[in-house]
Amino acid sequence: MTEEFMDLEQKDGIRMTWNVLPGTGQEATNIIIPIAAIYTPLKPSPMTLLPYSPLRCSPCRAVLSPFSVLDYVAEIWTCPFCYSRNRFPSYYPSLSQQNPPTELLPEHTTVEYQFQHHQYSIPTPVYLFVVDTCVIEEEFEFLKSALCQALHLIPDNAIVGLITFGTHVQVHELGFPQMPKTHVFNGNKEVTKDQLLDQLCFFLETPRPTVGVVAGPRDGLSAESIRRFLLPATDCQFLLTSMDPWYVPSDERPTRCTGTALNVAACLLGACVPGSGARIMAFVGGPSTKGPAPIISKTLSEPFRTHNDLKKDNVPFYDKAVEFYKNLSKQLLHQCHVLDLFACALDQVGVAEMKSAVQRTGGMIVLSESFGHSIFKDSLRRVFQSTDYDIGLSFNGIFEINCSKDIKVQGIIGPCASLERKGRLCSDSVIGEGNTIAWKMCGLDNQTSLCIFFDIATIGDFNEIVRSESNQFYFQFLTYYQHSDGRMRLRSTTISRKWVSGLSYKQDLLPGFDQEAAIIVMTRLVSFKMETEPAFDPIRWIDRSLIRLCSWFGDYQKDRPSSFNISPRFSNFPEYMFYLRRSQFVQVSNNSPDETAYFRIVLNRENVSNSILMIQPTLISYSLDLSPKPVPLDVTSIADGKILLLDSYFTIVIFHSTTIAHWRKAGYHKQTEFEAFAALLQAPHNEADRIIKERGSTVPRLVICDQYSSQARFLLAKLNPSVMHGSDNRPPGGEVIITDDVGFQEFMDHLLQRITNV
Ligand SMILES: *[C@@H]1O[C@H](CO)[C@@H](O)[C@H](O)[C@H]1NC(C)=O
Ligand SMILES: *[C@@H]1O[C@H](CO)[C@@H](O)[C@H](O)[C@H]1NC(C)=O
Ligand SMILES: *[C@@H]1O[C@H](CO)[C@@H](O)[C@H](O)[C@H]1NC(C)=O
Ligand SMILES: *[C@@H]1O[C@H](CO)[C@@H](O)[C@H](O)[C@H]1NC(C)=O
Ligand SMILES: [Zn+2]
Repeated sequence: MTEEFMDLEQKDGIRMTWNVLPGTGQEATNIIIPIAAIYTPLKPSPMTLLPYSPLRCSPCRAVLSPFSVLDYVAEIWTCPFCYSRNRFPSYYPSLSQQNPPTELLPEHTTVEYQFQHHQYSIPTPVYLFVVDTCVIEEEFEFLKSALCQALHLIPDNAIVGLITFGTHVQVHELGFPQMPKTHVFNGNKEVTKDQLLDQLCFFLETPRPTVGVVAGPRDGLSAESIRRFLLPATDCQFLLTSMDPWYVPSDERPTRCTGTALNVAACLLGACVPGSGARIMAFVGGPSTKGPAPIISKTLSEPFRTHNDLKKDNVPFYDKAVEFYKNLSKQLLHQCHVLDLFACALDQVGVAEMKSAVQRTGGMIVLSESFGHSIFKDSLRRVFQSTDYDIGLSFNGIFEINCSKDIKVQGIIGPCASLERKGRLCSDSVIGEGNTIAWKMCGLDNQTSLCIFFDIATIGDFNEIVRSESNQFYFQFLTYYQHSDGRMRLRSTTISRKWVSGLSYKQDLLPGFDQEAAIIVMTRLVSFKMETEPAFDPIRWIDRSLIRLCSWFGDYQKDRPSSFNISPRFSNFPEYMFYLRRSQFVQVSNNSPDETAYFRIVLNRENVSNSILMIQPTLISYSLDLSPKPVPLDVTSIADGKILLLDSYFTIVIFHSTTIAHWRKAGYHKQTEFEAFAALLQAPHNEADRIIKERGSTVPRLVICDQYSSQARFLLAKLNPSVMHGSDNRPPGGEVIITDDVGFQEFMDHLLQRITNV
């Protein structure tokens, strides 16, 4: 049933919760699940690249699309958004009924324009490495060798710079390899761009302009003075030799001024390359303990903040650090620069505090316990475009929405930031980055997926006469961005969805319900509410939403739970909600605040199919006598003689049941007569390798474990605990989960009781 929605996704990169829309604000409120779209602006698709600038409606700026109505004789097109009539310019390519313009062909709802008149120079993405030197020797060597590899992958035309930090911040002058030089900044003090320009002697030879903000070569910064700090990757191979570890064993936490280092980095890029695609890549090996945004004191006995502490508002450093990074994100957004965070430490480093700066600039996040871990090394490799792995990294994106005027835009949850362009389409009820119809996306790639929330205007706001002419709502999504080939492009996606209203609207909506999109929208929304509404109770909200949805769309007799019946369009939705309740996004106390922030940053940029795995993982069973087959995500799937492969997106688990583990330990797979067993052991590894390769920019963690080992918890935590302690319907060699949690059946029974007795 979701196939039809996936076909639409293949074509336009859009999944909507409701593909038939309610016609009024009241009807939209009744249906509980928000009207929302998950849109992947740069999704690779069979769309057409047009080598000219788009034709726009002159009053409303909407781009020509298959929904524009054409009058070939008069050479006029009518805009579906504002109904204005526009004349075709005489130069327009091949205008005739037999040969209509490409943009008007019905299959071209998504097209891309490549601008000709802007002659952009060859891309010079800038990578500014900000490297923590306060780590033990071994970690430092891991980091150095990973960076060394990265330098080989960076395209030759890219520009590279280096800042190291610990107690102080050091900006490295790379221009003179024979005479390495560093400029030291006090780790305690924030700097402004002006102070940085002075301290780095940008105006020794040329006089400093007396007015205005200095920004790049235009304002008098000479290319030579910039090239001292930012220079072509080919000239930088020696750069890593100028880095030294700065770790002093002590009975305190090391002094680490992460905040100041990122502040200096932002000012350096702001002074030298404002407005052009640049990434700050921060490699952080421990918590910040000094400067404007420490997350913990240096006293080792002081424990890290937990979710519980945050809930009780009991963390002295937290609010100030969060505010600091919010300020930093504003500066980076203004400059069009991205912050990538590679947090590799056993301790927390402050991802929770830095989250806004990473997410709002569209940066990458990697979380791992060591710079030697394959998660870190593989992730770093995937950032750089290489021939065998291209994630389509792009810069300088601007995302704009226009839609039929009865639709209102509430906001976006995803890697973007409001450009504060308020318009008539903005809803008063804001979700995420709202109150705007344009957003900045400093960094984005092929997979980046935004979740956009819509409202329907209430009756009285709209003009019934105009609306009744068609039963369609129109949406246009425009994404301007700098393609990895350096040129500016505009991706335009225009879609239309039917609306229904009146007596039978409930039935008419059903065929358009996409339960997969719905659960992912609910997941982003519940995470957002948990972060922004202090008194929010996620479990209660999930249960109430599900109960109200089922009561509204289901049929039942009062007090007879067994009479409950609901459209197959909702068949999996209650189960999704059940797994959402148990997921890492809701059960946050099982994780550190850093881990939760990491999960949410990744969730907020993923597409629907990958996000579903985070909620309801897939489970495959391997055994000697059967070919691999998917099995229910249930504790009863654990059985003797089986190997299970779980893909929960963040983690991939290979789980050996007791007998398999026993045979493996006895080395049977090394004996020629047990070739079949060797093949069985190998098969899930091959599948895991395939998944890890194809997963995009987030590299999953591989856990290989045996039944009853402590690592088995990675599997058990994801299974439906249908077999509780004391029950005896488990298969031979099976497992019992001891938990306070209810199983799915019990959850549903309880739910149906509540639904039917109102
Ligand atoms: C969007 O469309 C409306 C008509 O629905 C139009 O009035 C408005 O100017 C458009 N806004 C932008 C920014 O294109
Ligand atoms: C953030 O910026 C505001 C406004 O510029 C300033 O007043 C505030 O002190 C800054 N906060 C931090 C923690 O840097
Ligand atoms: C991303 O897009 C680029 C071109 O824009 C393409 O070459 C690449 O294969 C895409 N990568 C993925 C993983 O889809
Ligand atoms: C979602 O993203 C993954 C990359 O991680 C890609 O392989 C997959 O095709 C995407 N799904 C859809 C439906 O576009
Ligand atoms: Zn128009």
